[in-house]
Amino acid sequence: MSMAAETETHSEPVNSNPAVRPYRLAAKIFHWVTAALIILMVVSGITMKQLGSGAAMDFIFTLHKAVGALIVVLVLGRLLYRVTFPDRSWNPEHYRRPYIHWLLYALLIVVPLLGWAGISDYGARQIFFGLSLPAIWPEGAGWADFLFESHAYAAFGMLVVVALHIGMAVQDHMTRSRWDAAEED
Ligand code: HEM
Ligand code: HEM
Repeated sequence: MSMAAETETHSEPVNSNPAVRPYRLAAKIFHWVTAALIILMVVSGITMKQLGSGAAMDFIFTLHKAVGALIVVLVLGRLLYRVTFPDRSWNPEHYRRPYIHWLLYALLIVVPLLGWAGISDYGARQIFFGLSLPAIWPEGAGWADFLFESHAYAAFGMLVVVALHIGMAVQDHMTRSRWDAAEED
C-alpha cells in the first residue's frame, strides 16, 4: 500500500492521539478526590496559621492532620493499584508528562509526611474521638520547627507544580480539540 493510500485510510486507531490516554474509572475517582482534598489541605493549612489559636483553629488543625494522614494512605493505595494492575491498553510512548506526574506523586507523599513528622516531634498527634496518629518521628527530638517550615515550603512548592500540571492539562486538551477537528475534515 502506498504512503498516500495509508494516510487516506487513517490506518492509526483514533485513540493514538499522543495527548490523551484512557484512564479507568477508579483512577479518575482517585484523581478528583485527591485534587479536592489537596485544595482543602491548603485552605485549612493557611486558615489555621492565620487564626493562630481558639476553638475554630483547634478544629481546623485536627481536620488538617486527619485528612492529611488520609491523603498519605490514599496516595500509597493509588500507587499500589497503578503498579499492581497496569492498564494494558496504555501505550507508554503515548504517556506524556511522566516526570511531572511522578514529581506530583512524590510531593503528595513527602508534604504530609513532613507535617506528620513535625507533629510527632512536637507531641501533637491527637485527632478526633480521642484517637492519635501513630508517631513517625521521635517525640521531643527538637526538629519540629524545621519540619514545620519544610512542610510549609514543600506545600507551596507543590502548589506551583499543581499550577504547571493544570496548565499542561489544559494545553493537552486544546491540542486534542485541534486534532479532533482535523480528523473530522
Ligand atoms: C491538586 C490538584 C491535582 C493533583 C494533585 C493532580 C495530580 C495528578 C497526578 C498524580 C496525575 C498522574 C496520574 C497517573 O498517571 O497515575 C494526574 C493526571 C492528570 N491530571 Fe491532575 N492533578 C490535580 C489537578 C488537576 C486539574 C485541576 C486538572 C484539569 C484541569 C487535571 C488534569 C489531569 C489530567 C488530564 C491528567 C492525565 C494526564 C495524562 O495522562 O497525560 N489535574 N494528575
Ligand atoms: C498533602 C497534604 C498537606 C498539605 C497540602 C498541607 C498544607 C499545609 C499548608 C499550606 C500549611 C500552612 C503553612 C503556612 O502558612 O506557613 C500547613 C501547615 C501545617 N500543616 Fe499541613 N498540609 C498537609 C498535610 C499535613 C499533615 C498530614 C500534617 C500532620 C499530621 C500537617 C500538619 C501541619 C502543621 C502542624 C502545620 C502548621 C505548621 C506551622 O506551624 O508552621 N499537614 N499545611
